[in-house]
Amino acid sequence: MTAVSKLGSTAVGAKNDGAQNCNVALLGFGTVGSSVARILCERSNTHLRLTHVLNRNVARKKVDWLPSSVQWTENIDDVLSSDVEIVVEVMGGLQPTEDWIRRALESGKSVVTANKQLIARCGPELIGLARRMKQQIHFGASVAGGVPVISGLHEGLAGDELFKICGILNGTCNYILSQIESNGIPFATALREAQKLGFAEADPTEDIDGLDARAKLTILARVGLHCNVRPESIVARSISAIDSVDFEYANQLGCTIRQISWAELKAEPKGDCLFAAVQPALVELSSPLARVEGSQNLVMATGTYGGETVFGGHGAGGHPTAVAVVSDILAIARAKQAGMSYAGQPLEKTPTVTAEFTTKHYLRFLVKDRPGIIASLATILSHCGINIDSVLQKPACPKSHLPFLITLEECKASLVEQALQQINSLDFMVQPCLHLPIL
Ligand SMILES: NC(=O)c1ccc[n+]([C@@H]2O[C@H](COP(=O)([O-])OP(=O)(O)OC[C@H]3O[C@@H](n4cnc5c(N)ncnc54)[C@H](OP(=O)(O)O)[C@@H]3O)[C@@H](O)[C@H]2O)c1
Repeated sequence: MTAVSKLGSTAVGAKNDGAQNCNVALLGFGTVGSSVARILCERSNTHLRLTHVLNRNVARKKVDWLPSSVQWTENIDDVLSSDVEIVVEVMGGLQPTEDWIRRALESGKSVVTANKQLIARCGPELIGLARRMKQQIHFGASVAGGVPVISGLHEGLAGDELFKICGILNGTCNYILSQIESNGIPFATALREAQKLGFAEADPTEDIDGLDARAKLTILARVGLHCNVRPESIVARSISAIDSVDFEYANQLGCTIRQISWAELKAEPKGDCLFAAVQPALVELSSPLARVEGSQNLVMATGTYGGETVFGGHGAGGHPTAVAVVSDILAIARAKQAGMSYAGQPLEKTPTVTAEFTTKHYLRFLVKDRPGIIASLATILSHCGINIDSVLQKPACPKSHLPFLITLEECKASLVEQALQQINSLDFMVQPCLHLPIL
C-alpha cells in the first residue's frame, strides 16, 4: 500500500476542496523539521499533505500530534518510491544528504533544502540537475533563516541590476559582539554565555571563523549578483580577537563592530571583479548594520536602478526557518499546479574574487610601553606609503599591556598587511595588531 492510499481525505494540512493535493516528505525531524511538520499540521488552508517523515533511529522521534497516516521511516527508498512530489531536506550535513537530494531529483521529485553548506558547495550542479529533470530546487531557508532574502533577490529585485550585497548573516557572531559591546565582557566570556543560552554550538568554529557566513554570502552572490563563485575563494576572518576595548575605541570614532559579509561586483579593466569577504569591521553607528542586535540578521542589496533595499529579521530558530521552508514548498506547489518547471537564472559571470578593499583602517595595538613606539610604527607605515589619520589612547592603562589605536587614511588592505608583517615582529608588541576595515 502506498503512503498516499493510507491517507484519508483530511490528512495533515490538506485542504479538502477538490483541488489537487501535493504530497510532501520530510528528511530530518530536528529543530527545523519538527517546526515544518507543525506548520503543515496546523495550517489547514494549503493543499500540502505531509506523508513521510524520515530520520535515523526514527522510533524515538515519533510524536502524537501528527496523524497516524504519516509514514515514519529510516529508509530513503520508502520516500523515493512513493508518490511524494516534494522532498524537504532538513537533516543538514553533506552526506548522505547530497546523494539523497540527487536521487530525489532523478526520481522526478522537487526539493526544498535549508542546507547552506551543501548549496554553497554544489548549488549550481543541483540546480542544473533539477532543470534537466524538469523539477525545482528551492533553498530560501539556507540564508538568514526566516528572512525572505533569497526570494527577495530572485523575484522581488529581479528587475534591478544588483551590484552590492552586504549584511550580517551569522546570529551567533552578532550575539557575541553585541554582548561584548553592551556588557564590556571579554570574548571568551561572551562565547561561553552564548553557548549556555544555546546561541552558539559546542564547537563554534564555523560561526566564529566566518565559515557559516561565507557559505551564505556565496549563495547570495550567486542569486543576487549572478556570480559563479566558490566559498573557498572568499576570505573569512575570525571575530575571536575582538576585545571590549575595541568597542570603546570604535565608539570614539562614531562606529561599532560587526561581522560583515560583503560582496561587491565591479567591472575592472581586466574583467569582472568580486570584492568579497566575511570579517569583523567597523560600521558607522548611523548604519542599519550597527543597529542589528542579538541574533538578528540583516541584508542590504544595492542596485543600479532601485538603490538600497534592506531585508531583516530572525536569522535562525525552528519556527522562523520553517516559515521559509514552507514558503518554498508552497512556491513549488503553486508552480506545479500552473504546470511550470524551474526557470532559474543562469550564473552569467565568473569574476575574479578578491578581498583587496580600499578603505580606512583600524589598527589596535597592545604593547609594552616605552618611548619611541609611535615613531617606529610611523616609520614603517610611511615606508609602505600609508598615511596615519589619527592616534587614540585610553588614559590610565597598565604600561605592560597598553592598548592604543591608530586609524589610517584610505588605502588597500594588502598594503596594511605588508606593513603589519614588519610591525608584528617588533619587540614591544604584546600580541599581533588587530586590523579591521572601517566601512
Ligand atoms: N536551526 C536553525 O535555526 C537553522 C536555520 C537555518 C538553516 N538551518 C539548516 O537546517 C538544517 C537542519 O537544522 P536543524 O537545526 O533542524 O538540525 P537538527 O536539529 O540537528 O536536526 C537534524 C535532524 O536530522 C536528523 N539527521 C541528521 N543526519 C541524518 C541522517 N544521515 N539520516 C537520518 N536522519 C538524520 C537528525 O537526527 P538525530 O536526532 O539523530 O541527530 C535530526 O533529527 C541544517 O542544514 C541547518 O544548517 C537551521
